[in-house]
Amino acid sequence: MILYFSGTGNTKFVAEYIAEHIGDECVSLNDILKYKLPLRFNSVKPFVIAAPIYASCYPTIIMKLIRKAEFTGSDKIYFLTTMGAGTGAFEVPLEKIADEKDMAYMGACGVPMPNNYIAGSDLPSADEAESKIKAALPLMKELSEHILAGEMIEKYDRGTSYFVAKLGNVIFEKFFMSSSGYRVSANCVSCGKCEEGCPVNNVKLSPAGVPHFDHYCIGCYACINRCPMNAINIGKKTENRNRYVCPEYSDWKKRGLID
Ligand SMILES: Cc1cc2nc3c(=O)[nH]c(=O)nc-3n(C[C@H](O)[C@H](O)[C@H](O)COP(=O)(O)O)c2cc1C
Repeated sequence: MILYFSGTGNTKFVAEYIAEHIGDECVSLNDILKYKLPLRFNSVKPFVIAAPIYASCYPTIIMKLIRKAEFTGSDKIYFLTTMGAGTGAFEVPLEKIADEKDMAYMGACGVPMPNNYIAGSDLPSADEAESKIKAALPLMKELSEHILAGEMIEKYDRGTSYFVAKLGNVIFEKFFMSSSGYRVSANCVSCGKCEEGCPVNNVKLSPAGVPHFDHYCIGCYACINRCPMNAINIGKKTENRNRYVCPEYSDWKKRGLID
């Protein structure tokens, strides 16, 4: 069973690729969070957790979810991530969690995908993103083969020390993970995609149809990147930046881009 969390679709794409190549099912942790579904998972096949890197670690909300969740059936657990540049030291606490849960840690690996961190820099164009995803397909295939064969997987990048990664992550989550600076421009057409796409129900349309942001933002940037009118911005700094949403895996299959 592949359990994935994804703000802008990269991790969903990787999860769906691997699910199809190993003949397993995919479960969306976005839905589990959004609809507050039970954290009980049963699978005879190994569990594969997949989530993006946020400031060198898995998002804290996903770490908490994995800690709380009950996994029955298989006692094997793999961890995957997607990231714009590097995996940090995301595997260090995950190995400990597997141990706490009496599960066999089967390794962790990151798949480099297009960057969605719009607060930091401009995002790739559609062509640049497509090239990066194409370049990641062989690694998705390799990971699928290892998981199917029941083999351990290994990170290919060196990452940073866990201390440095965690320190950066704590500072990031305390000072930068907030929707308080989000502004909605007159381009908003009240389509509700921001509300729909928010995995933690932090965005609600007012009766007049204007998005309102609460205080539970987890910084996934789904609302900003999925807005078809580019109407949500962080102050002025993102006004001229590209938006990024990963293409659907099913569309790539139809286009014959997947082996
Ligand atoms: C809040 C936030 C922090 C991020 N931090 C990092 C990082 O430290 N290193 C990195 O390589 N990519 C970082 N990224 C980029 C994402 O990890 C990357 O684009 C990921 O594939 C997005 O996955 P998704 O589309 O499934 O949400 C960050 C993105 C966000 C939104």
